[in-house]
Amino acid sequence: MDIIWHKTSGQFHLFNDRISYIFGISPSGELAGIYFGKRIHDREDMSYIQIRVGMPNVAVDPATESYSMEINRQEYPSFGTTDFGTQAFEIETLNGSRVSSFVYKSHKISKGKEALHGLPATYADEKEAMTLEVELVDSVAEMTLILSYTIFDRYPVIARHATFKNNGAPRVKLTKALSCCLDLSDQNYEWMQFSGGWARERIPEVRKLSTGTVLIESKRGTSSANQNPFIIIKRPRTDDFAGEAFGFSFVYSGNFIAQAEGNNHDRLRILMGINPDRFEWPLEKGESFETPEVVIAMTDCGLNDLSQTYHKLYNNNLVRGKWKNRPRPILNNNWEATFMDFTEQSILKIAKKAKEAGCELFVLDDGWFGERNDDSAGLGDWIENPKKLPEGIAGLAKKVKALGLDFGFWIEPEMVNPDSNLYRRHPDWVLSAPGRKSSLGRHQLVLDYSRPEVVDAIYSMLCKVLKDAPVSYIKWDMNRSLTEVYSNDAPAELQGTIYHKHIMGVYALYERLRTAFPDILFESCASGGARFDAGMLYYAPQAWCSDNTDAMDRIRIQYGSSYGYPIVSIGSHVSAVPNQQTGRTVSIETRANVAYFGTFGYELDLNEISDEEFQEVKKQIVFMKQNRELIQFGTFYRLRSPFETEQNAWMVVSEDKKKAIVGFYCMRAKVYSLPGFLKLAGLDPDLKYRMEGKQYFGDELMNMGITLAEFYAKGFSVSEDYASFVTVIEAE
Ligand code: DGJ
Repeated sequence: MDIIWHKTSGQFHLFNDRISYIFGISPSGELAGIYFGKRIHDREDMSYIQIRVGMPNVAVDPATESYSMEINRQEYPSFGTTDFGTQAFEIETLNGSRVSSFVYKSHKISKGKEALHGLPATYADEKEAMTLEVELVDSVAEMTLILSYTIFDRYPVIARHATFKNNGAPRVKLTKALSCCLDLSDQNYEWMQFSGGWARERIPEVRKLSTGTVLIESKRGTSSANQNPFIIIKRPRTDDFAGEAFGFSFVYSGNFIAQAEGNNHDRLRILMGINPDRFEWPLEKGESFETPEVVIAMTDCGLNDLSQTYHKLYNNNLVRGKWKNRPRPILNNNWEATFMDFTEQSILKIAKKAKEAGCELFVLDDGWFGERNDDSAGLGDWIENPKKLPEGIAGLAKKVKALGLDFGFWIEPEMVNPDSNLYRRHPDWVLSAPGRKSSLGRHQLVLDYSRPEVVDAIYSMLCKVLKDAPVSYIKWDMNRSLTEVYSNDAPAELQGTIYHKHIMGVYALYERLRTAFPDILFESCASGGARFDAGMLYYAPQAWCSDNTDAMDRIRIQYGSSYGYPIVSIGSHVSAVPNQQTGRTVSIETRANVAYFGTFGYELDLNEISDEEFQEVKKQIVFMKQNRELIQFGTFYRLRSPFETEQNAWMVVSEDKKKAIVGFYCMRAKVYSLPGFLKLAGLDPDLKYRMEGKQYFGDELMNMGITLAEFYAKGFSVSEDYASFVTVIEAE
């Protein structure tokens, strides 16, 4: 890894063993993209790539009379001059002009990576990464722009963000400040997004790119279940095992856009950042604005490789604290077992059985506080309900601990029910527009986290609950989108800052709680997976993946999530049948076979299942304890897509390639068909492995594949609806 500055040509080359990222000062003084892809040789001057020809109907820079931004690749394009593509930022100066031009002034190359301010971001020490900061100035607007690029030694990754500073002008207004732009030199790419809605999150969708714009976004105040802030730009032939692709992962949990735009000169522009719609950030003299980070990864060997990059980078350089790279406790959560109808006694009964089964953590979900007996009341009153918990959270936690289980509980700190003491005391603490009615979502309003006193108040209430309670886990929920986003505490000219300040307030509370209680494992949740993003992983190393716990639907949701997020971050539980969301009945074996590929736990009352199933559950927990380190942190491969076939298969391989675990799932039987074969991946071709008592070479398993008929013969049903098997492969 190194960053080379070629002074005579004004070009930068960031590279490691796998990638080269090259850009430089353009003839007009701004920054122009040159290359991003597989590692190439360094050379002094690559400006030959810039086109300087007169073309009809093309605007040119007056100093050069031939250089046009429109027909060249840009690093962080501005509005109003020779580039007619979508700009990465926009600034309005006091005279109403939005034209800008930032030209190179200086740069700094350093080892490691500095933290962003109050924002989640990847981190790295001096050996792991190098950072380039390029300082650009717009002398008319009297503004500075710093573009930051970090290259990681071990990963084919560039992390980018931008910082704007007003150096002396009267107030200017940032009306757009994206985190990155990457211009590619042709349009023969496909766009892959991860979309859905409640209970069907992160479903991959692919479409061909050409001229014109593809854009996904969230305006909901959360990253959302509708569109995930992660996209892949891939060559049409790229699949999981081969081909070129770029990933763009936004380390942010609020409104965003991701966009691809092809112009008529075969340039493809990728943009990602805070959604400019509903964003306006005034900057007074001396003030600055820092964008969140985008992590751009590159592969030339397929989407499994791209996903593995994100899995490893996020496990090693995004997740922090005690739970970084630690296998996760097997938990039992009472939500689908009791909803809000419970007493301390009934909870202890469920916990006792969970302990008997081998679980390690018991989680008390919604309903333990205020007048919270259904979802119409109590949110905001973070004080135990003595009718349900006579000795409070501390008392229950101690009793659960005495059973031999760790204890955790649920909160939804960003919300308030109108029917709550908090709202009655502070009706102005919610986001609401003057004179207008406030829309409800699940009978609740959104607290205005742009106000530090609101964050302080919630922090104090939660600290009181946590004080003296042996709590080792918190499920942090968030169950509605933001509406009427207006802060009663901010002047008119700052209302455009509220969406961003709100999510900064959420991050601030997370940071304070995790600092005060460093041993607590946080699991984020937003009506299931409506805020499953890289930003959240910085605070909460795992996320409840979906409220849909049906094993067949979960295969698709977990498969989609695996493209951009580590397996250990995917909250996955076995729940009761018939399933609450789909009514489907799937065997306890298959439910576990799906849930193993995540954090693993149970979302049901184990007292309610048959003895036979309970014995099976005990075996499942033993299996997961033996194998979770490998499953959660091994190298993960998608083998067969549940979106292209009626089957799914995935596997994990240990770092030394000596052990692997394969999961195979028949989602819908195909009558009168042979079981077929399943080709594995990631093994050592020359090693001999043992699988189900037989020996195979790695190359056999990867090229000829597993004969599924053998599993059939062994009693593993692989050709029935909802049948599955999980098998362990070990080198001899
Ligand atoms: C939505 C979550 O996704 C569920 O798991 C559960 O915690 C409920 N909220 C509780 O209200």
